[in-house]
Amino acid sequence: MCGIIGYVGKRTDAGVLAVQSLKRLEYRGYDSWGVACKTKDGVIIRKDIGKISTVDSADFQQPSSLAMAHTRWATHGGVTTENAHPHVSCDGKIVVVLNGIIENYEALRDELKTKGHEFVSSTDTEVIPHLIEEEMKTEPDFAAAVRRACLRFEGRYGIVAMHADSFLLVAARTGSPLIVGVEKDGYFIASDTPAFLEYTSTVQYLDDGEMVVTDGNSILFSDIATGEERTKREIEITWSVTEAHKGEYDHFMLKEIMEQKQSIARAVDQDEDQIQTLARAIHAAQGTFLVGCGTAAKACMAAEYFFSVIAGHHVNFAPASEFKLYHRFLKPESLLIAVSQSGETADTLEAMKIAKSKGAKVLAIVNAEGSTIAREADFTLHIKAGPERAVASTKALTGQMAVLLLIAYAMIDKLPKGRTRLLETAAAINDMLNPRYTEFIETIAERIQESSDLYIIGKGWNYPMALESAIKIQEVSYVHAEGFAGGELKHGPIALIEKGTPCIALVGNDEVRTDIISNAIELKARGGFIVGIAPERHAVFDEWIRVPDVDTAQAIVNIIPVQVLAYFLAVKRGKDPDMPRNLAKSVTVK
Ligand code: G6P
Repeated sequence: MCGIIGYVGKRTDAGVLAVQSLKRLEYRGYDSWGVACKTKDGVIIRKDIGKISTVDSADFQQPSSLAMAHTRWATHGGVTTENAHPHVSCDGKIVVVLNGIIENYEALRDELKTKGHEFVSSTDTEVIPHLIEEEMKTEPDFAAAVRRACLRFEGRYGIVAMHADSFLLVAARTGSPLIVGVEKDGYFIASDTPAFLEYTSTVQYLDDGEMVVTDGNSILFSDIATGEERTKREIEITWSVTEAHKGEYDHFMLKEIMEQKQSIARAVDQDEDQIQTLARAIHAAQGTFLVGCGTAAKACMAAEYFFSVIAGHHVNFAPASEFKLYHRFLKPESLLIAVSQSGETADTLEAMKIAKSKGAKVLAIVNAEGSTIAREADFTLHIKAGPERAVASTKALTGQMAVLLLIAYAMIDKLPKGRTRLLETAAAINDMLNPRYTEFIETIAERIQESSDLYIIGKGWNYPMALESAIKIQEVSYVHAEGFAGGELKHGPIALIEKGTPCIALVGNDEVRTDIISNAIELKARGGFIVGIAPERHAVFDEWIRVPDVDTAQAIVNIIPVQVLAYFLAVKRGKDPDMPRNLAKSVTVK
């Protein structure tokens, strides 16, 4: 989704800094960009469609200590330069960027038009500078006028604004994340910490309904509705700058896939008492619901199997975007488990809101420290995967599954066994992800790269992994991929199999092995080219990608070769796996 960075302080290279920081937010997914910086000659604004890498930072080399920048992921209005942010008021002095949606923008625009304001874009954002301009006619204080404007907005938003005649950065948040980065002589305001991690790891979080005003020397947080001052703690975040760089890898996606050698072991490192308390809470709950979106949703689905097979306990999975319909089943004794990498996904937050409105408790399993979901939940477990920059989620998924598996073991008082199982799995992944292994998967990618369709089957906990495999392949390689429960093949999908159609079978040494092998045989009989991902070879496999035999953690290892395959498919097909078209890393709109 949209990325925001603002800076005010003693640095004199704010324009260049804004451009550089924006490049660090590229991973969020965007289709246009814009930069504004205040110089002695006034506010310079540049915006364009396409990639920020085309911007010439020389344009921003004039001394400046106040700047902001934005990457836009189009919602209202097409991908055009006019629609790119920042947007300005009629006099050009009020400059605004937005993450989110102003839902009542049409009514506000009509009202402002009758007052003589002229609009040049088709965005919702453009009403913001004009409304602030209108408010300033009766409230000349810029920050106070921003607050008055915010009182009229409906929707979920994160706004950053500046004025050509002031040295202030003003930001307000309702629904979309904004984080303040604190350094000795200045402040950053960003949608996500990697934007300023290079400069500071000290942060202050804006909560919903709050705004912030800073001149670089001091900062004031307040409540948008009442204007009352709010005090904020400074928090040190543990993510390091090196974790946020590509290092020796060509792409973040491959780097993050490889990091699973360590990240699963970190996920397992949880406070024992806390896990036991949560396990008891799940036992005691009258209805436990697991929600997430995209890849996180697949971790939730896998957890349904973990809880069932390991703990004999029934939990209910729903995609967070479908959870609205579940409110009838919720009561104060219910428990919602919200799973999210970013901790900012709008649909997951909405599901939490629904659960809370019924008095239910919420457990969050997140990666991003200090994220909204982490802060709004009653209990939070961090998966400790470190920053995940590639849009395609990899190490976050396996971290989420590891934590959920651990909880399932805790429910039968076998936490040490779960921990050992997962640490052994982490060690096995370390052995597995060697250069020969990835080169072998690359040869398979080479072989199937021209195929227009690809099917993946799984059974039991490998069924959600088949769905996840399809997402991975679709999002980075743009090959049409679909995942099925092996048993469902005969009920329709098998009609799609032709001679040579690549089919991946996800297999474990478990109670459903014979069934999934039978399904692979059925595919082969129709001409399918079978790639088996399994601990043991089988005659039906045309190609066999060996994975370690890790019992209850099989789903965690089986997905990893598919992540590698998706990566190489993208690269071989000339696509950038880190920046897939139309997608965003953190989806903060419903
Ligand atoms: C987006 C991302 C996916 C992610 C999903 C849920 O669609 O591109 O990679 O799985 O959001 O995000 P979350 O941050 O809640 O895990």
